[in-house]
Amino acid sequence: RPLLDPAPPLPALYTSLGFSVFAFISTLYLVPALGPTFVKANLKGRDLLKTYHTPIPESQGLICAAIYILLLMLFIPFAFSNVIMNFASDAKVHEGISIVQFPHYQLSVYLSSLLSLLIATLLGFLDDVFDIRWRHKLPIPIIASIPLLMVYYAERGNTNVVVPLPLRSIFGTLVNLGPLYYIYMSLLSTFATNSINILAGINGSEVIQALIIALSVILNDLLYLPWPVDFRIPVHLLGSKAEIEFGGVWSAGMAYGSKEMVERHLFSLYFMLPLVAVCLGFLYHNWYPARAFPGDTLCYVTGMAFAVVGIQAHFSKTLLLFFIPQIFNFVLSCPQLFGLVPCPRHRVPRFDANTNLLHPSKVLFQKAPPKLTKITLRILAVLGLTELTVHPNTGEILECNNLTILNFFLFRFGPMNEKRLVQVLMCSQVSGSIFAFVVRYGLAGLVYDG
Ligand code: UD1
Ligand code: MG
Repeated sequence: RPLLDPAPPLPALYTSLGFSVFAFISTLYLVPALGPTFVKANLKGRDLLKTYHTPIPESQGLICAAIYILLLMLFIPFAFSNVIMNFASDAKVHEGISIVQFPHYQLSVYLSSLLSLLIATLLGFLDDVFDIRWRHKLPIPIIASIPLLMVYYAERGNTNVVVPLPLRSIFGTLVNLGPLYYIYMSLLSTFATNSINILAGINGSEVIQALIIALSVILNDLLYLPWPVDFRIPVHLLGSKAEIEFGGVWSAGMAYGSKEMVERHLFSLYFMLPLVAVCLGFLYHNWYPARAFPGDTLCYVTGMAFAVVGIQAHFSKTLLLFFIPQIFNFVLSCPQLFGLVPCPRHRVPRFDANTNLLHPSKVLFQKAPPKLTKITLRILAVLGLTELTVHPNTGEILECNNLTILNFFLFRFGPMNEKRLVQVLMCSQVSGSIFAFVVRYGLAGLVYDG
């Protein structure tokens, strides 16, 4: 008898939705309820862009992370409900001789993902408490991604990159990046965790980024589910030929991708639905004027959740497309992150209490900056990314804007209030995602032949 491989547990998706509603209500209630406890434990911060000095509970992302991870653990049996049901009926019919195989691989995917999320939470919380140095906190997510990479390896995950049509005469159709692909994936986890954290400082900024990225990932996942109605996107855009050839096996005529692809995207949905829920619940309290701060905990755990689904569900390149504002902010920040330009503890915009408007904040140069710094800043200024103040006689650079996307928006669009600035950030994130979908499903057909 051949071993039966049960169909993906689509009904578990409804359970996941139910869990998410619970996660949303719990976050909504627990964040304000535990606020005083956080303040008492000295987990508090001052809102830098306000006139008042009331301490605001900080690192309340810990509540989100706790609800999120506990619910993901509770969900494990539901994620495997199809196997459990099959085991039950199987035992009766065949007197204990099982013909149903337990998908241990999927369990290891799930457990290794939880492990990475737990480390991210721990790191984020430690960072909130101890303000860990850059060089110490960068390698930790890389190490935290090893379980994910091992599972990817165990499944003989793809390390090929499809070469765009114009370059095929040089590189061929596929380039196998081998170990480089693993390095890329481990860097993805560091990037995802830190890039949200450095695009921060105004009310709602961290959590709104996470929310929009999570919603984009969900939308992308939904494209791969076997919908009963015929709303097909060209199948060659969904994955490699090998995967599509496998497609008909599970539910011919209905599935657009292979059974594996459906399972992977279901897995991604199980991790993204409760994430959206905790983010929404938290956003309510973090929205301008903030009554709660997420802290680094929220940035790290959400970032790691994205890295986890991107790697485990094999769509890390599509995922990166959802991080366009973060990539822009990171590249712009590089001169400050890598010491070319001084980096103050806070790079938040400057608040003008009289007008209630935000202006770009500045870096002052005490003495003439080194040559490399000068060249970098001049290039950035020519590109319209920063604003320089130069000495009228000597032409020496005296100050520049802090190199963040928020200061860039203020520089390009003029001073605005905090609420408007977070709305601009929101629009840029949504536009980034729309662009990502166009590139992934629209333009990919022009560059790749599938
Ligand atoms: C990152 C940024 C830093 C920015 C900070 C703001 C880099 C390299 N680091 O540092 O420039 O100033 O985030 O979060 O880019 N805060 C507000 N309003 C908010 C959110 C935070 O005033 O809406 C302030 C509060 O004082 C809060 C503090 O920022 O206590 C939290 O900063 P933290 O997250 O610890 O800073 P980093 O992540 O290290
Ligand atoms: Mg932070």
